[in-house]
Amino acid sequence: MRQTPQISKLTSLRAGFAVLSIFALSGIATQAFAADPAPMAPAAEAKAAVPGKPKADAAAGEALYSNGDASRGVTACLTCHGPKGQSATATWPKLSAQHAAYTNKQLKNFKDGTRANPVMMGMVATLTDQDMQNIAAYLVKQPASLGVAQNKDTIELGQSIYRGGIAAKGVPACAACHSPTGAGIPSQYPRMGGQWAEYNAAQLMAFREGTRKNSTQMTTIATKLSDQEMKAVSDYMAGLH
Ligand code: HEC
Ligand code: HEC
Repeated sequence: MRQTPQISKLTSLRAGFAVLSIFALSGIATQAFAADPAPMAPAAEAKAAVPGKPKADAAAGEALYSNGDASRGVTACLTCHGPKGQSATATWPKLSAQHAAYTNKQLKNFKDGTRANPVMMGMVATLTDQDMQNIAAYLVKQPASLGVAQNKDTIELGQSIYRGGIAAKGVPACAACHSPTGAGIPSQYPRMGGQWAEYNAAQLMAFREGTRKNSTQMTTIATKLSDQEMKAVSDYMAGLH
């Protein structure tokens, strides 16, 4: 959806206030900022080597992503998630341009079962920590894939939840952590803009129902949202860029 310059200025101001109040509440986000003083360019994030940790090899990640590894029974990720992680159908999430630390964490969580999804649990079974880092380093360098909001009847509700939360239910503004543009905040807060609405709505339900229990922050938030609110905000987020 298109916004006039005034409206975007107003909404980003509101989101700015929301960010401040969230920081005052949690302190967790402040730590994330302390670790990442400036939003890093995708390439810089992929290269950042933590002392004592093996460096991620994006070229090896690309090979594994695109071809799999028959000798270990690793299916090519591209089969479902599409070339460069730009999945063409809502059945499979888009992975391109996602923060490397977030992607890496999800792969670990499928393996340790805190994110219970039968398909992906099978996919990561034989991946090593190094493979996960390599694939994540490759994906963050791929261009973000844009989307559009589809449901004009729920755009307003979706936007108001995303920008301002739902004060009466204690739901914080999504923009506070996922950023006003939906780009997320490296490295903890994932990119949302352009993601398939069906996928994000399903994740919100998985947080609420407890099949995805890898984030207490998101479980607390999802527990307060109705199905209709989840669908509205997910549709709105698909159009963010
Ligand atoms: C058979 C199809 C299929 C294949 C092949 C596949 N995936 Fe997935 N992937 C999925 C589905 C379905 C989901 C959504 C899971 C859910 O609902 O939690 C998913 C989710 C993910 C996510 C989470 C995305 C997010 O935004 O949190 C990551 C990361 C991921 N896959 C990486 C990979 C990698 C890396 C490979 C290759 C080793 C791979 N996938 C292979 C189907 C597939
Ligand atoms: C306090 C910070 C915070 C706020 C506010 C917040 N989120 Fe999140 N969100 C997170 C974190 C952290 C994750 C990643 C969890 C993980 O590590 O798996 C996440 C993940 C998600 C995911 C899963 C993305 C994926 O690719 O699978 C969705 C969907 C989501 N959030 C939607 C929302 C919506 C909608 C709102 C507003 C109603 C919201 N979030 C508000 C912190 C936040």
